Amino acid sequence: MIWHLIKVLTAYRPNKLSKKIKQETKGLHDEIESHPFFKSMIDGSLSNECYYVYLFNLLPIYKSVEYFVLGENIVPDLKQSKKINQDIVEYSKICNVRLDANNFFCNEWLAHFNKKSPFLKKTELYIRWLADLYGGQILKKNIKFTNKYEFKDVRKCIKIVRKLIEKDLNDSNVNEFINEVNKSYNFHKNLADKILALKFD
Ligand code: HEM
Repeated sequence: MIWHLIKVLTAYRPNKLSKKIKQETKGLHDEIESHPFFKSMIDGSLSNECYYVYLFNLLPIYKSVEYFVLGENIVPDLKQSKKINQDIVEYSKICNVRLDANNFFCNEWLAHFNKKSPFLKKTELYIRWLADLYGGQILKKNIKFTNKYEFKDVRKCIKIVRKLIEKDLNDSNVNEFINEVNKSYNFHKNLADKILALKFD
């Protein structure tokens, strides 16, 4: 496990602007990492129902990034929506929860995403894909169905994602990118709060 983590952490040497993004969003990453929702994912106490609703909420975000940012030439290893769909099917067999508008909380987030420029849409690629490729490798230990966190080649995927972001990143747009990443962390926090407040039979 430790060797695997070291391999993930040394996958790619980020450029100076990527390092700036990491530094300036670290506060909110640390906050989300210690949010009760993600803490309970780590210790295995998050219910299957909560995690099922979480996947249901994230799926349209992933699909939008794949459609608008990654396009058709996406390598199969990065096709997260397909893996999430597989997980959703598995959870539907063990969770007695109806997925509908009453437990979908991402309309505002999606509306915000749709208004963003093609470059700023990459903030969701940064957040969601790197979350799966880094933190996800730790989180998956205590998750029942983990297709979302399975990659044939984590290092290669990290490299592709980072390069796609760095391609358009420059000194004039990095602060805007950071702003959007911070907004996305807040959308995540809000989603996690709402899901934890749900009551399941
Ligand atoms: C308990 C939950 C989590 C753990 C243990 C965790 C752990 C980690 C670790 C070890 C890294 C690599 C840090 C490094 O390169 O030094 C990382 C990076 C990252 N994580 Fe998390 N994470 C968690 C939750 C999240 C969540 C919920 C999100 C998104 C909402 C997220 C987004 C990211 C991003 C975007 C990066 C890349 C940062 C960068 O290098 O610029 N993480 N995480």
